Amino acid sequence: MSINPLIHNTNITKALLEQKIKNGSVVVDATMGNGNDTLFLCQQVLPKGKVYAFDVQEVAVKNTLKLLKEHQFDSDLGSNIHCIKDSHENFDQYIFQPVDLFMYNLGYLPGSDQSIITSPESTIKSLEMALSLLKVGGMISIIIYYAHPGGNLEKQALEYFLEVLSKKRFKIFKGSMPYNDHCPPIIYMIEKLRQKNTKQYKGGF
Ligand SMILES: C[S@@+](CC[C@H](N)C(=O)[O-])C[C@H]1O[C@@H](n2cnc3c(N)ncnc32)[C@H](O)[C@@H]1O
Repeated sequence: MSINPLIHNTNITKALLEQKIKNGSVVVDATMGNGNDTLFLCQQVLPKGKVYAFDVQEVAVKNTLKLLKEHQFDSDLGSNIHCIKDSHENFDQYIFQPVDLFMYNLGYLPGSDQSIITSPESTIKSLEMALSLLKVGGMISIIIYYAHPGGNLEKQALEYFLEVLSKKRFKIFKGSMPYNDHCPPIIYMIEKLRQKNTKQYKGGF
């Protein structure tokens, strides 16, 4: 697929992520929403790969299943595609294999209840788990929309979390389009460079 990266923030992430995943990769959409990112992931990694997608809202699961069916992914549902109505802080109850890529799109679901937003606590807990499940060479992409009430708190928590991550083990990119958008969403990409030293390893990511 050829993507024009600068048309939209999500396209920038997708253009970068396309290099990282292929047919057979194991990937996770941490915030399913209307299913646009889940669909992108399915198009990249199926038929051989696996896609897990999470959201706390029933409407998100419904919209995503509809979108996937419209794109002829019906037969993969339940086998290679798992759309899960649960919080991304519960990854460990559903994912039992190393993961190539996690995608987060933080904020609220456009066109839906704007009081249901991702929260600092569950986002950080989920990221800790994602870092642990991530393969060496794998990547986590995060787009945060933070103009809504509570958004700035989540951004602060996220940036503190990234600031204290080991830079020997993780490479981190941050970018946005401040000349085009007012309060532009911010993109972060985290690449895992190496596992924790196993001799000293006492759990965690
Ligand atoms: C900006 S939207 C995601 C857009 C989506 N990626 C798409 O392609 O349409 C953020 C989503 O995160 C969901 N969300 C909020 N808290 C969550 C949690 N703890 N776990 C998983 N999803 C959550 C919201 O319900 C909302 O659908």
